[in-house]
Amino acid sequence: MRETVNIQVDLGARSYPITIGAGILGSIGARVASLGGSHRVGVVTDSTVRGLYADDVLRSLRAASLDPALVEVADGEESKSLASLSFLYDRFLEAGLDRRSTVIALGGGVIGDLAGFAAATFLRGVPFIQVPTTLLAQVDSSVGGKTGVNLPQGKNLVGAFYQPRLVWIDVLTLTTLPQRQVRAGLAEVIKYGAILSAELFEYLERSLDRLLGLEDEALVNVVGDCCRLKASVVSEDERESGLRAILNFGHTLGHALEQMTDYRRYLHGEAVAVGMVFAARLSAERGLCPVDVATRIERLVERAGLPSRLPGGLSADSLLRAVGADKKIQDGKVRFVGLQSIGKTCFVDLAGAEILHHAEAASVAA
Ligand SMILES: NC(=O)c1ccc[n+]([C@@H]2O[C@H](COP(=O)([O-])OP(=O)(O)OC[C@H]3O[C@@H](n4cnc5c(N)ncnc54)[C@H](O)[C@@H]3O)[C@@H](O)[C@H]2O)c1
Ligand SMILES: [Zn+2]
Repeated sequence: MRETVNIQVDLGARSYPITIGAGILGSIGARVASLGGSHRVGVVTDSTVRGLYADDVLRSLRAASLDPALVEVADGEESKSLASLSFLYDRFLEAGLDRRSTVIALGGGVIGDLAGFAAATFLRGVPFIQVPTTLLAQVDSSVGGKTGVNLPQGKNLVGAFYQPRLVWIDVLTLTTLPQRQVRAGLAEVIKYGAILSAELFEYLERSLDRLLGLEDEALVNVVGDCCRLKASVVSEDERESGLRAILNFGHTLGHALEQMTDYRRYLHGEAVAVGMVFAARLSAERGLCPVDVATRIERLVERAGLPSRLPGGLSADSLLRAVGADKKIQDGKVRFVGLQSIGKTCFVDLAGAEILHHAEAASVAA
């Protein structure tokens, strides 16, 4: 095994380590055992990841004298539901998990959010470990402690802040991830560079092809950088009362696009890519940053094979509704995260008419 990167998320009594490496999945057992707790552990995964990685994980846990119970849900966002949650509680009880049993989430963000919320609430909270297997989950959803499920009325409407005891990231799991998912995860990687680190951004400009080619060393370094950056933001603002809002760069418009297209047309990262280019361009148009900043973001997004423009034909009304411009927040304005330079953010409050003006300039038909 090559060198691993270790990062500590500082949250006082809730602090935890993130370990990132290439080929470390099969060594997880000893690490889990070292954390203590009862021998009976629950491993939650989805139907796709199960076939790829569950055996390695179960074997390693057994070799460390642990007694894992595998719980599988269907693959996809539909599994982030109250029905799956209830299914997990049933399986946990059936398998004899107790207060000292660890729940391990093996999969993408859906599994991390679902299993994390189950761990936060089962027996009023049992220890939890994240083993993220998508790029999005490795750089974003597994770090920071947000867990939850969707309701029929909307996404992430029920949940809890619940920090894991450990995040164990094997970048080799990304070799089986569909290319489109890899590219979508790269949008979040680009985001960290854009908002927090000119150095990471420059590295991406130089080495994007190595990442797209899934070279282990590049992946370990970049996933490590992203986790470090997210960890520093989360340490300062665990519950999103301030600084954490900068992580929403690209997301105000991104979420709106996902919603307007019924979560079918875009993967989350693709919609965020459009949103980041939009936010960078509007920052430049308002003189908050040099034009070059927006050009570099747009170029990197396009090189990553991600969309950079709003689709033509969106109705003004539905766009305003989706960004919340009708909710009269911030004195009738919607707050966007903008850029002052690569690595430095600012906030931009826009009224509905200004949003439409920038959206027109940023759409494919323009
Ligand atoms: N908690 C947070 O802070 C946070 C942050 C961002 C997103 N999220 C949530 O994350 C979810 C999206 O996560 P996601 O993009 O990882 O989706 P996902 O979990 O649905 O995974 C995407 C697809 O990839 C498959 N997959 C996973 N790992 C694989 C691998 N190594 N090889 C092959 N296939 C693999 C999955 O089975 C699934 O079909 C959303 O529900 C979103 O709300 C949470
Ligand atoms: Zn995101």
